Amino acid sequence: MNLMYRYTTRSELLNKMSQLAREELLHFQQVVEILASREIKYVRLGPSRYAAGLRNLFAGDEHQYLIDTLISGAFIEARSCERFAKLVPHLDQELAKFYTSLLKSEARHFKDYLELAELYSEEDIAERVEEFRQRENELISTPDVIFRFHSGVPTTV
Ligand SMILES: [Fe+2]
Repeated sequence: MNLMYRYTTRSELLNKMSQLAREELLHFQQVVEILASREIKYVRLGPSRYAAGLRNLFAGDEHQYLIDTLISGAFIEARSCERFAKLVPHLDQELAKFYTSLLKSEARHFKDYLELAELYSEEDIAERVEEFRQRENELISTPDVIFRFHSGVPTTV
């Protein structure tokens, strides 16, 4: 299929992303149920610097912006996957099972994002992936005052 036609229709993107959004919302619903069963109040937390730090790299050009969004989505999912895996051994049985299911989804989402970036990019994405890898590495390995799932190294205040 011609890249211009593919980019214009974006049918793979629309299908994959609506599937992914449904899955993420189901996870959110499961979290809400677990919170309720444990009598834990849902509290909205503000975001850490992580996603904004990746977004700062996004290009102004519309097409490259899409590729950058997909590449950063892949990093976010891969990092979630890694962190869920690290947490599982420390959790009770119910949460360990739930987090294991989440990490399997995140691993799939990571691949989906990356495959879509490759599909829509006119050039090899390796160089751009490397730029995001370096930024992402800074974000998770340097001190971070806000403690969230994708934070950097926690600091004590
Ligand atoms: Fe995900």
